[in-house]
Amino acid sequence: LRASLAIDPAAPVADVDPRLFGAFVEHLGRCVYTGVYEPGHPTADSDGLRTDVLDLITELGPTMLRYPGGNFVSGYDWEDGVGPKESRPRRLDLAWRTIETNQFGLAEFMRLCRATGTEPMMALNLGTRGLAEAIGLVEYSNFPGGTARSDLRKAHGDADPYGIRLWCLGNELDGPWQIGRLSADEYGRLADRTARALKQLDPALELVACGSSGRAMPTFGEWEATVLEHTYESVEFISAHAYYEETDGDVDSFLASAADMESFIAGTVATADAVGAKLKSPKRIAISFDEWNVWYSSTWHREGVEAEPWQVAPRQLEDVYSVTDAVVVGSLLITLLRNAERVRAACLAQLVNVIAPIMTEPSGPSWRQTIFHPFAEASRYGRGRILHAVADGPAHDTAKHGTVPLLHSVAVAGDDGSTTVFAVNRDTSRPMNLRIDTRGPVGQVSCTTLADPDRHARNTRGEPDRVAPRENKDIAITDGGVDVLLPPLSWNTVRIA
Ligand code: AHR
Repeated sequence: LRASLAIDPAAPVADVDPRLFGAFVEHLGRCVYTGVYEPGHPTADSDGLRTDVLDLITELGPTMLRYPGGNFVSGYDWEDGVGPKESRPRRLDLAWRTIETNQFGLAEFMRLCRATGTEPMMALNLGTRGLAEAIGLVEYSNFPGGTARSDLRKAHGDADPYGIRLWCLGNELDGPWQIGRLSADEYGRLADRTARALKQLDPALELVACGSSGRAMPTFGEWEATVLEHTYESVEFISAHAYYEETDGDVDSFLASAADMESFIAGTVATADAVGAKLKSPKRIAISFDEWNVWYSSTWHREGVEAEPWQVAPRQLEDVYSVTDAVVVGSLLITLLRNAERVRAACLAQLVNVIAPIMTEPSGPSWRQTIFHPFAEASRYGRGRILHAVADGPAHDTAKHGTVPLLHSVAVAGDDGSTTVFAVNRDTSRPMNLRIDTRGPVGQVSCTTLADPDRHARNTRGEPDRVAPRENKDIAITDGGVDVLLPPLSWNTVRIA
């Protein structure tokens, strides 16, 4: 196979918001308990955070963490998770059918953010609760002091306000599974009322209205239009959530999942802009793609969970990822970067144990899943400006997503003068000769590649580094560019200085 990519270094098309590399910490399964938080673990610090996990999070490089859910937030009382731990109540979590001990709450989450240098992104409960509780939480978090709620935070040990800027107005309230599900009209009114009140408290807040919990939702498009008709002037973002999985062995469709994400973004932008045009507003709404990943959700059944007793932090959604999954995650990252002009925030869902790049064993080790690697490389080298780039090469037909190019790529100019090309070869059997035309002299090049003769290869506790990016030596500087060989079904990071 032969493909080419002509990059125009003089034509940046968008700057990349660092918030594009967010991740997600939900009270779900073992994401929090025995994931990030395990007092008594040999590596735990004085806050109960596992330092082995903190090190892996730092290496992964998320810039932002969304918390505390997800479906969980729609039944959560934030007050349960603050104050002395011994007085915190045990509650039922109806979303995931577990018992929540509340030993980890807002203060512990803020410590996690500080320890990992990440920005907090908080979700508000607009399922079982509403405007008053949202105001209470923002006041508790962000008001400096001298009021009952802000002084309560101080009494709980945090003298300085948390300064949380980015807030999600609920979670997936279009979904029939969501506690307190609403119609678009009901949600739009509630989100607008909440947004306006919160901005009276702090005009610098940035707010995310719920978009669709999937492009396949029957209300997709209509939901966004109605919600934004209510909230256009009071929010900055509309959210999007998407999960992909391989079904029936149709690997070509799975590897083309990014085509669906691309259509999802385009549809959301078109809908938002249509509302803006109708309202004659100069404002542009950004997309917060605050849940995305590969998730074998069709293997998760609520009936299975209901057959189990109510438990604290059971193993749930602990997908073990393959090489193929990592290449798809890389391709989804390429899509987010290609749409960086409008996608200004995004969260890989999730961070630890639950559909996650990082796995842990209670009282045991932690390790990197295959999907850890494309995320870490994209976060490290994907900051800067997206360059105009023209790709040319073969395409093939897929059952679910029509005709897609076999090369999926994006070029990013870093602040240090280097250029990085992230490239996926979607062909499962043939290597691809990629010629990168740089329109300028090349000093040094290097490439790392994640691929494996066994596309199902995984990392496990016993073999934690079976799959990782390796140096790709099939790369050369040629007249006016770079030639690199991309193995079949591979994720590649080409660094050009
Ligand atoms: O990330 C897992 C779940 O997926 C989240 O709780 C929910 O928002 C989505 O449906």
